[in-house]
Amino acid sequence: MKKSILAIAVALLTLGACSTQGGDKQQEAATDGIDNGKAAIENIMTRTSIRKYKDQPVEQEKIDIMLKAAMAAPTAVNLQPWHFIVITDKKKIDLLSGQQPTNAPLLIVVCGDTDKTMMPDGKGKLPDFWVQDVSAATENLLLAAHALGLGAVWTGCYPAMERVAEIANVLNCPKNIVPVVIVRVGYPDESPEPKDKFKQENISYNRFGGKME
Ligand SMILES: Cc1cc2nc3c(=O)[nH]c(=O)nc-3n(C[C@H](O)[C@H](O)[C@H](O)COP(=O)(O)O)c2cc1C
Repeated sequence: MKKSILAIAVALLTLGACSTQGGDKQQEAATDGIDNGKAAIENIMTRTSIRKYKDQPVEQEKIDIMLKAAMAAPTAVNLQPWHFIVITDKKKIDLLSGQQPTNAPLLIVVCGDTDKTMMPDGKGKLPDFWVQDVSAATENLLLAAHALGLGAVWTGCYPAMERVAEIANVLNCPKNIVPVVIVRVGYPDESPEPKDKFKQENISYNRFGGKME
């Protein structure tokens, strides 16, 4: 399975390589881009949820990189309506894990900050785009974890409001801070195959149900 996912990624990148022509410098730049691109695509295609972790803490340097990657995500009107709560305290980890106990040494709670959803002209708030913003940050975080040799899994909170309230209570969140996702992170102690989710039938061209010309 893993091999077929990689084969698709490599084929896409090879197509890209074939379409680059021009001077030596251009060619060099293009090849650099493809090499970088290859690593990025491979990282995306080989990420998978990891739920068992080694008894080994995650270094602060890696935590910082994951947080920077998360905050590099796009947001509506560039409002960055988020807050990240880093949990390394074992008791807190147990409290927050609720019905799904974990041995993760690290949780990152990705929250929306509804106080940061005002339109720049001050004329009211954006609708609930902040949920998409926080989700984009979460995916960046998962990909960064994988690139750093860590394993992670997204565990959803919002919009299960009882769960949101429970987590907000444990973390002393003010009203504007809404826990959306708890990302569990650690060094992997399992190596599941990435799932091949590519389905041609999920794609249309030019109209719903339209075929590629
Ligand atoms: C919104 C959302 C909520 C999720 N909640 C949970 C969860 O509560 N517990 C869990 O173990 N995994 C959870 N996951 C992870 C999914 O189960 C996982 O991403 C999916 O099975 C696909 O597997 P993959 O991540 O290995 O590609 C969640 C993922 C998303 C996007």
